[in-house]
Amino acid sequence: MAPGQVYSVLAIILTVLPSLALAADFVVGDQEGWTNKSNYTTWAADKVFRVGDRLVFSYNKDNHNVFKVNGTAFQSCEVPPPNEALTTGYDIIPLKTSGKKWYICGKPKHCSQGQKLVINVQEALEVPSPSPAAGAPSSANGILASGYQAFAAAIAAIAVLVIV
Ligand SMILES: *[C@@H]1O[C@H](CO)[C@@H](O)[C@H](O)[C@H]1NC(C)=O
Ligand SMILES: *[C@@H]1O[C@H](CO)[C@@H](O)[C@H](O)[C@H]1NC(C)=O
Ligand SMILES: *[C@@H]1O[C@H](CO)[C@@H](O)[C@H](O)[C@H]1NC(C)=O
Repeated sequence: MAPGQVYSVLAIILTVLPSLALAADFVVGDQEGWTNKSNYTTWAADKVFRVGDRLVFSYNKDNHNVFKVNGTAFQSCEVPPPNEALTTGYDIIPLKTSGKKWYICGKPKHCSQGQKLVINVQEALEVPSPSPAAGAPSSANGILASGYQAFAAAIAAIAVLVIV
């Protein structure tokens, strides 16, 4: 491979990798936000959620709220006690574990009108980690970020060897 090609391949790897390795924020409903006029089955259908990602519920707090519920309450639209509601109008929920997660709006009839979201959270993607012994970062994001940086540094070092 000519040096120019090596650089091109590296540029692609280094551009694509962070988006694979680093956590994402998902604004529920995109521009529509969290309302009783959207269909969140459709919204979630083409997305992959992973541990370390975050859900952002953006809504008019006078009209809506967010409850995390179990699968039973999700199906029946049973609203938990009011003190369990998220009500800021911009609630950020970190996805800390894998598996199914269910959310509904607690305003009258909104859940049955379709203001309900179920997602299936996948495990985080693994990135080669430098040395596990050297000061383990506490957060999952920290591990992913430092793994990526070490990987990028290793690739850059190899590139220098190939080109020189
Ligand atoms: C959404 O909720 C509001 C207030 O509860 C209601 O007036 C409206 O009809 C609902 N819209 C839909 C599409 O169900
Ligand atoms: C699901 O949530 C409802 C409402 O909060 C609760 O009454 C019920 O016991 C829960 N079911 C399970 C299986 O945890
Ligand atoms: C949302 O869309 C899905 C797939 O088209 C459909 O099965 C579901 O009934 C819709 N939900 C509501 C509340 O309209």
